[in-house]
Amino acid sequence: MEMIRKLSALLNLGLAISMLALPAEANICDGNEAFTLLLHGGLLDYEEEVEPRHRALFRQLLESGRERLAKGGSALDVVVESIAAMEDSGILNAGKGSIVNSAGFTETDASLMDGRNGRSGAVAAMQRLKNPILASRLVMERTKHVLFAGATGEQTLADLGAELVEDPASYFQEYVPPPKGEPSKTEHGTVGAVALDRCGNLAAGTSTGGWPHKMPGRVGDTPIIGASTYADQRYALSTTGVGESFIKRAASRDIAMRAEYLNTPLKRATDYVVKELIGKQDGAGGAIIAIGKDGEIVVSSNSYGVLYGWVTQSGDIVLGTREP
Ligand code: GLY
Repeated sequence: MEMIRKLSALLNLGLAISMLALPAEANICDGNEAFTLLLHGGLLDYEEEVEPRHRALFRQLLESGRERLAKGGSALDVVVESIAAMEDSGILNAGKGSIVNSAGFTETDASLMDGRNGRSGAVAAMQRLKNPILASRLVMERTKHVLFAGATGEQTLADLGAELVEDPASYFQEYVPPPKGEPSKTEHGTVGAVALDRCGNLAAGTSTGGWPHKMPGRVGDTPIIGASTYADQRYALSTTGVGESFIKRAASRDIAMRAEYLNTPLKRATDYVVKELIGKQDGAGGAIIAIGKDGEIVVSSNSYGVLYGWVTQSGDIVLGTREP
């Protein structure tokens, strides 16, 4: 068995090296369309303004995202870079800042989708990945699959070059959730990013440590393409909130299809799914950020709000927690 695993790791490594030797994808575009970058840092548990530490992080990410997009950086690259930085910040519930489950250890989920062609990558219930969003990109670009899960999935991705942390217990567990029933006064939830680049291409990504007190092995909506992350040639979306409801509703794809088939504004389609279906009918808390190729920017929440920030080619940086 061990022999087979080693052989397979060697084959995977060979595949990774040969793919790295291929010409890099052209990720700089020379179009002249107006760009947008919209980020979220999770659903709020209570009413609050943007905290100074989150303000500083979002401002920095939006400034560097604006610079990258202005120079022709691709939506996909900027989404990945923004989410990786949020994962590394340790002040949001993703990557380093991921919370622990009910058994006291961390399991992370993430996903990524390229609106140009529907290519997607995702990871679920990962215990040692340093950057789940980078591993999602690896899945998208270095395998024929979409979703890798658990210890064996993690090992396959490590063999393909994903970085693992040496000591997960000390790397991740900066935040221990409060006892059940008591309000959380610490990290926000899931993080996400959606972007539209100067070539008019869209991309979306999401990353999380999941819910406080989640059971070991529980997977939320974050790594499910079409439930949380979704991007096509018209829309890009990312969710935060009670993942079970987003999965059952196939929420992000449902919104994109409602907007397209019903020819309705993205905001209206998003509000209907977030507030009416997930909020009123399911009684679940949730929020979605979304952008349209036409420049529409949407933040919709059925709860106290969501930490968000955006920048466009023509505008200043906007940060907030309540719906704009
Ligand atoms: N939406 C994040 C989760 O349910 O895990």
